[in-house]
Amino acid sequence: MGEYWYIRPGLEESVNGFFSAQPEADMALESQIPEKDFNQAGKGSAEVKNLLKRLGVNPGILRRVAVAAYEAEINVAAHSLGGTMMCRIYDEFIHIIFKDMGPGIADIEQAMTPGYSTADEMVRELGFGAGLGLPNIKKNSDALHIHSERGNPTLLEFLIYFMSDE
Ligand SMILES: Nc1ncnc2c1ncn2[C@@H]1O[C@H](COP(=O)(O)OP(=O)(O)OP(=O)(O)O)[C@@H](O)[C@H]1O
Ligand SMILES: [Mg+2]
Repeated sequence: MGEYWYIRPGLEESVNGFFSAQPEADMALESQIPEKDFNQAGKGSAEVKNLLKRLGVNPGILRRVAVAAYEAEINVAAHSLGGTMMCRIYDEFIHIIFKDMGPGIADIEQAMTPGYSTADEMVRELGFGAGLGLPNIKKNSDALHIHSERGNPTLLEFLIYFMSDE
């Protein structure tokens, strides 16, 4: 397997068109997420939230972007050897991409299950590890794609439309 896709019903054509064309973004932001650095993880999502706010994006959408991006940043810090967050902003949506340095996810369907977590003691002591991050990313996204397998880097990317009403 190693591949997971979710597209909000009704958006299939737009989302598939975007992923096959991969057009140039109007604006881009990039940040680093070092392993187990829970101070740095969170900065990328805060930065993109502030930028979208200045661009006049509505508060409900801002909240969804901030929640999904924060959960994904924390996952890179908590479960991987570190990675990067890349935001690409278009007229109609934001595309955020997380790439880490492994060790990957053996079973993505299992990882998506609410309550499933492999968080270690140190991560749990910081209040993470409820196993709700990935379900929360899905809930807040209009499209979610994960590519991962055990022993390899993980790619997680999502799209959130500025006009959507969820
Ligand atoms: N980038 C990643 N690299 C490797 N494994 C990951 C990654 N992201 C998630 N996982 C795996 O998926 C599991 C579920 O992730 P999820 O975000 O739902 O829960 P959690 O991070 O364990 O807890 P919470 O997000 O509620 O603090 C993780 O425990 C981990 O096993
Ligand atoms: Mg998590």
